Amino acid sequence: MVSGATIVVGVIGNPIEHSLSPRMHNAAFEYLGLDYVYIPLRVLEKDLKNAVRGAKAFNFRGFNVTIPHKVSILRFLDKVESTARKIGAVNTVVNEDGKLSGYNTDGLGALEALREAGVDPEGKKILVIGAGGASRAITFYLAGVCSELTILNRTRSKAVKLASDLKSAGFKAYGDGLTVETLERELVDTDILINTTSVGMRPDVNRSPVPEELLHKDLVVFDIVYNPLETMLLRYARKVGAKPVDGVGMLVNQGAISFKMWTGCEAPRDVMRKAVMDSLLGRD
Ligand code: ATR
Repeated sequence: MVSGATIVVGVIGNPIEHSLSPRMHNAAFEYLGLDYVYIPLRVLEKDLKNAVRGAKAFNFRGFNVTIPHKVSILRFLDKVESTARKIGAVNTVVNEDGKLSGYNTDGLGALEALREAGVDPEGKKILVIGAGGASRAITFYLAGVCSELTILNRTRSKAVKLASDLKSAGFKAYGDGLTVETLERELVDTDILINTTSVGMRPDVNRSPVPEELLHKDLVVFDIVYNPLETMLLRYARKVGAKPVDGVGMLVNQGAISFKMWTGCEAPRDVMRKAVMDSLLGRD
């Protein structure tokens, strides 16, 4: 129950009504008996600066940032953590004594999701499809642990730019266009394939960023799309005997890391996962 002492956090984005984060975080606050509330905040692009000022004025403890503000918010923050700055995107803001600091928990969330699924990216060859914000966040974390990293993107120049940014940060990476030929060439010796594009996301459920015939049984196939739970790419992966990893783990883990930043408490990940699954499966 919200009281006068309740601490406020939330998520800013547009659209925001389909976000699962309010349910996920409020379930966790309730479970731990923390006097916090997590609210959805629809913010238009033209209003972002005022929204950030407002969050400060209202003394929010922090907030998540989602599409379309993850990149544009950087210039309105007092401080941006160094990896988030290299990624160029912020998904979590923490209000530290009136100063707003930006972080990115997506990459670490993805890494934790892989490890939770029993997959160790250490020394593996990873192929990432897509070179947008989510890809940048994930590759800046995975590049430090895997042995080889390739990024394929529909717009080739963005993959090349991301690979070059990773190199500037001291990592090894290769970027190229996304075609059947490049996929075929790269997938042969890939251990972990990660889809960071929205291809296959509801309502686009009958599409896959990679054709079934290019997959093989020795792959781990991680799709960061979580709605539907089994994307067409993951269905193909299952059919060829590869190991599918769905996007719920990343959603829960990125949220759990943000939760700890705001509350100082270890997040109840199982409670958060159940809240997400209940929403996705229409059990609430
Ligand atoms: P996010 O923050 O979720 O990563 P984004 O920054 O808009 O979103 O990036 C979307 C990614 O999905 C991009 O890599 C985009 O490719 P382009 O750079 O060529 O636009 C990719 N993407 C989106 N729709 C796609 C499609 N139909 N086929 C292939 N790639 C697609």
